[in-house]
Amino acid sequence: MDQTPKGAILQADVALEKEKVKSGSIGRKALRNASVAGTDLYDIRDLEVFFPVRQSFLRSMVSTEKHWVRAVDGVSFTIGAGEILALVGESGCGKTTTGRTLLGLEAQTGGQIFYKGLEVGKFTPGAIRDYRRHCQIIFQDPYNAINPKHTIFDIVAEPLVVNHLVSNEREKEERVIRALEEAGLRPARDYLYRYPHELSGGQRQRVCIAGAIVLEPDMIVADEPVASLDVSIRNDILKLMVAHKKELGVTYLFITHDLSLAWVISDRIAVMYLGKIVEIGETEEVVANPQHPYTKALISVIPVPDPTARRERTILTGETPNPAAIPSGCRFHPRCPEVMDICSQQSPEDVQIRGTHYASCLRLNGHS
Ligand SMILES: Nc1ncnc2c1ncn2[C@@H]1O[C@H](COP(=O)(O)OP(=O)(O)O)[C@@H](O)[C@H]1O
Ligand code: SF4
Ligand SMILES: [Mg+2]
Repeated sequence: MDQTPKGAILQADVALEKEKVKSGSIGRKALRNASVAGTDLYDIRDLEVFFPVRQSFLRSMVSTEKHWVRAVDGVSFTIGAGEILALVGESGCGKTTTGRTLLGLEAQTGGQIFYKGLEVGKFTPGAIRDYRRHCQIIFQDPYNAINPKHTIFDIVAEPLVVNHLVSNEREKEERVIRALEEAGLRPARDYLYRYPHELSGGQRQRVCIAGAIVLEPDMIVADEPVASLDVSIRNDILKLMVAHKKELGVTYLFITHDLSLAWVISDRIAVMYLGKIVEIGETEEVVANPQHPYTKALISVIPVPDPTARRERTILTGETPNPAAIPSGCRFHPRCPEVMDICSQQSPEDVQIRGTHYASCLRLNGHS
C-alpha cells in the first residue's frame, strides 16, 4: 500500500466512493456544470476545524468536559479564479488545516466551503472524488510526498490511472510528458525512468508539481512548497507557479510562514493568527499599509535590499500561542506591542480599511 501523503489521498478517494449517497446532496453532474461566472472559485464562510484534545485516563475520570484544539476558528475569505492567495502566519496558526479542509482531507466542524457556488459539504462521494481531481495539493517535503521506489513516470501517471483518465498507454505517456515539461523538467523523456533519489530537491518538487498539474486542476494548495529547498532554487519554483497561473489559469492557495515569499508571489495576502484571519487584502496594499500589529511585526522583519535603509524591527515575545487555550478578548493580546486594557476583554471585528483590505484590531474601532 502506498504510504506517502499522495497515496493516502488516493486511498481516501476510493473509500469515499463506497459511502452511501445522502439526500439533498450535490452530485457529479451539478459539479460538471458548475462555473465561476459571477462567483469566486472559493467562498469560505466561518470555517471551523476543531480537534478533540486527548485526555489522560485519570483526567477523563474526574471531568467529562471535552477540550478542543481550535485549529481554524471561524475563518471567512474568498479565492478568485486564477489568483494566488497567500495564507501567512507562524507555525501552528492553522494554515495547513485550512488548506486540507478546503480539499476535504480534514473534516470541518463548522462553517461552509463553496466551490464554484456549490457547497462542498453537500457533495456526494462521487462528486467529492471529481472535486479532488480539480483541487490538488503540493507538500513541503517533496521527498516524503512521493514513493521512492517508483519511477518518475509511474509517480506522475498514478493519479491518471487511479482516476481512470486515460484509455491507453500512448495517451498516458503523452500526458505525463506534457506535465513534466510544464513542471520544467525538460526534455521530459530524460526523467521518465529515473527514481526520486537520482534527482535534486528542486527537481523532486517539480515532479510533485507535475503530479498535480497532470490532472489539469483548477486549484493547487501549495503548502510551504519551497520551505525545504535551497534558496538558489526557490525562485525557479515560484516563477513556475506564476507561469502556471498565467498560462494554465491555475489558482493557488500558497501557504507560507514567510511573509517575504508571500509578497513575491501572491496577488492577495491573508494573515492568520491562532486560527483567525487578522488581516486580508491586495498584497501591495497590505505590505505598504499594514494595519494589524501582527502584520506590522511580520513586515518589520523582512530583510530590505538597501542596507542603509533603517527600519525598526518588532520581535514578538511571549509564549508560543496554543490553540487549545486561546486567550480571552483579542487572542493576540498577550504578545501585542500595541496592547490596551480593553484588549483582554473584547474581541475585535473585521474593519474595512480600503477596497478589499480588512483588518481586525480594536484600535481600528477607535479604541486607544
Ligand atoms: N489531526 C490533528 N489532531 C489534533 N491537532 C491537530 C491536528 N492537525 C493539526 N492540529 C493542531 O492544529 C493546530 C494548527 O495546525 P496546522 O494547521 O498544522 O498549523 P500550521 O500549518 O499553520 O503550522 C496546531 O496546534 C496543530 O498541533
Ligand atoms: S485588539 Fe488590542 S491586542 Fe489585539 S491587535 Fe489590536 S491592539 Fe493588539
Ligand atoms: Mg503547516
